[in-house]
Amino acid sequence: MMRRSVVLGTGSALPRRKLGNEELARMVDTSDEWIVERTGIRNRHVAAPDETTSSLATESAKRALEAAGIDAKSIDLIVLATATPDQTFPATATIVQNELGCNGGIAFDVAAVCSGFLYALGVADSMLVSGAANRALVIGSETFSRILDWEDRTTCVLFGDGAGAIVLEARTEPLDEASNQPRGVLATKLHADGQHNQLLYVDGGPSTTGTVGKLRMKGREVFRHAVTNLTSVLLEVVEAAGISTEEIDWLVPHQANARILDATARKLGFSPDKVVMTVDQHANTSAASVPLALDAAIRDGRIKQGDLVMLEAMGGGFTWGASLIRI
Ligand code: UT7
Repeated sequence: MMRRSVVLGTGSALPRRKLGNEELARMVDTSDEWIVERTGIRNRHVAAPDETTSSLATESAKRALEAAGIDAKSIDLIVLATATPDQTFPATATIVQNELGCNGGIAFDVAAVCSGFLYALGVADSMLVSGAANRALVIGSETFSRILDWEDRTTCVLFGDGAGAIVLEARTEPLDEASNQPRGVLATKLHADGQHNQLLYVDGGPSTTGTVGKLRMKGREVFRHAVTNLTSVLLEVVEAAGISTEEIDWLVPHQANARILDATARKLGFSPDKVVMTVDQHANTSAASVPLALDAAIRDGRIKQGDLVMLEAMGGGFTWGASLIRI
């Protein structure tokens, strides 16, 4: 009897402060026109000093638990994806665990930058399927505003802060009642290619400079690899799940750049109205972007139970991955 991870609920959280393109254009040499045309971004949220990766993660987790209608105490696994932890250690997941009051289970962080949520989902799903845990919180949370070089217009306009979370539960042979089709995480594929680790990186760290460092990116080269890698991993998941791309109801991509989303969707023959797009409002929130977009589309009623949803992301490393879920 096969165990599968079923999504019980989703949640998200954003910092209070919004930073629009016009305001940003008063800080660096850029314009609303350039940012919108090249990226589709209009707005991002920036964390105040009292808002941290753990506080945003905790808020998003509480909302996901509420949507799932379950008590935090029943969570026995927290996998938190972040590249901007509160501290070098302990894992931010342990801070969230303590805030939620579900101490005693498994809690750790995953570092795969913008693909972090897909990696965290893959790991949590494997642990649920194997029986290592029964109920998991999978969280992506970031405060990239803290590692941006606010004088570098080629990067600081692109990123924002936020968090998203999902609650997963292991069930035996779960079926969607309406369609009688298998429910839950159906297939996940993850990849990394370390030869590109200097195209998107942070120029500091505990073991090299002893500092936190700032984000650096060769954007044009990242863009080129993103479309190719995302298209191939998506097709790999489709094949592993034994479905056709036409059966997918929603594509929930990593929200880095509207042009990457459009190009990937076009290559795969997805109509734009099947693609969830939140990059205009949140910019690139790294590991938080996929669960933020998923939660937005579930809350506004676009994604419903029984829908076949493809999540995908690509980020520094390079790392990339995709996961197919029947909600
Ligand atoms: O989440 C992880 C994955 N990350 C990504 O997926 C990011 C992928 N890359 C991208 O999204 C795009 O490459 C960018 C948005 C970063 C850049 O767009 P682009 O169309 O590739 O522009 P470019 O880098 O080729 O730059 C074009 C011009 C340059 O000027 P010159 O050399 O043509 O005179 C830049 O200096 O735009 C200039 N530029 C800007 N101008 C105004 C770069 N940043 C800005 C800016 N405002 N903020």
